[in-house]
Amino acid sequence: MTTHSLSVRTVSVDLGARSYRIEIGAKLLQQGLKYLLDWVAPEVPGKLRLLLVADSAVVETHARALALSLQAGGPEVHLLQVPSGESTKSSVQLQRIYDALVEMAADRRTIVAAIGGGVTGDLAGFAAATYARGLRFLQVPTTLLSMVDSSVGGKTGINHPRGKNLIGAFHQPMGVLIDPAVLQTLPDREYRSGLAEVVKYGVILDADFFEFLERNVTGLSARDPQVLSAVICRSCELKADVVRQDEFETTGLRAVLNYGHTFGHAFEALAGYGQLLHGEAVSIGMLCASRLAEKLGRITADVTDRQQRLLEALQLPVHVPSDLRDRPAEIVQCMLLDKKTEGRELRFVLPSRLGHVETVRGVTSEQALSVL
Ligand SMILES: NC(=O)c1ccc[n+]([C@@H]2O[C@H](COP(=O)([O-])OP(=O)(O)OC[C@H]3O[C@@H](n4cnc5c(N)ncnc54)[C@H](O)[C@@H]3O)[C@@H](O)[C@H]2O)c1
Ligand SMILES: [Zn+2]
Repeated sequence: MTTHSLSVRTVSVDLGARSYRIEIGAKLLQQGLKYLLDWVAPEVPGKLRLLLVADSAVVETHARALALSLQAGGPEVHLLQVPSGESTKSSVQLQRIYDALVEMAADRRTIVAAIGGGVTGDLAGFAAATYARGLRFLQVPTTLLSMVDSSVGGKTGINHPRGKNLIGAFHQPMGVLIDPAVLQTLPDREYRSGLAEVVKYGVILDADFFEFLERNVTGLSARDPQVLSAVICRSCELKADVVRQDEFETTGLRAVLNYGHTFGHAFEALAGYGQLLHGEAVSIGMLCASRLAEKLGRITADVTDRQQRLLEALQLPVHVPSDLRDRPAEIVQCMLLDKKTEGRELRFVLPSRLGHVETVRGVTSEQALSVL
């Protein structure tokens, strides 16, 4: 992590020719042009053109400021609004982006930028990955989840009616701009849901970071800009380091990021639309996984207790909803269908201490269900 004058923190994502930087700091949206020019001007001669794809929920509050700052220096900026919500990761919205690119006669010098949460980033990133075999892509995440998770790692894509994220590509952005102040407008549940992924990084990779979170619950709840900036920076560093070692998900290393997600995805899917946000399901899922690790004799109860106390302090749910507890067969079925599962074997990422996890195979459904 480096911190320079205007207290901008930089995380370098080292991926050889696909390396890029994540810049985190106040008022970065108003300085968008400076970064854009830094990143692309040497490579792209002539007038820059940019398609800014914006979640309609942030158009007035954040996207206009970014568009204005970009236009001020000359680039031609086209703004395309997409509706809020998961259903926007669709072929219909993808087609709208392609249409806008055709309309503006996009060429290799055209940049696609996304401003919004993971939905906007995944959709616009996939358009950038596929239009004309790949356009430059800039990410401006506006949810905590997208800042610490979806904007790092280069996964882009849309949903198929039969399954989430089924159509996609790896396409690294040329840069990521994060202004923690945009989180001030994020609804409380969405914000806390993002905190679950932050806690996850502490558990899987960094016990000191976990302790930092424990000490800063008040600042986190108040969305204190200093605390947020530090937390976003460390989360991005931790994810970037995993991605660096397993960019295309081939070595299995990237699987550590799946802690709490095998249980979590099952809860999310079964709870019914909108009942549990992703991070809320992951919060409950992490505690199930941790309790499973206890049952298998891998950790002592205090490791689970600390996670539970922190998640509760951050007002995240920690108990499996009672109606789900009554559906064990469906939970197992969902976990077996999880795309990270191989064959008919249940596999979990489990802690062996705070800050370290391992993939554990051959867990029986009885063992898995015993922690609900
Ligand atoms: N590419 C990856 O590696 C990766 C990783 C994790 C998740 N994802 C994907 O990310 C998506 C979830 O992302 P998300 O949680 O950011 O959801 P999201 O993009 O749907 O945003 C959540 C909600 O917050 C609103 N919003 C966004 N920013 C706001 C702001 N600053 N102020 C007010 N409202 C705001 C949105 O309109 C939306 O209603 C899923 O589709 C998931 O598959 C991708
Ligand atoms: Zn997640």
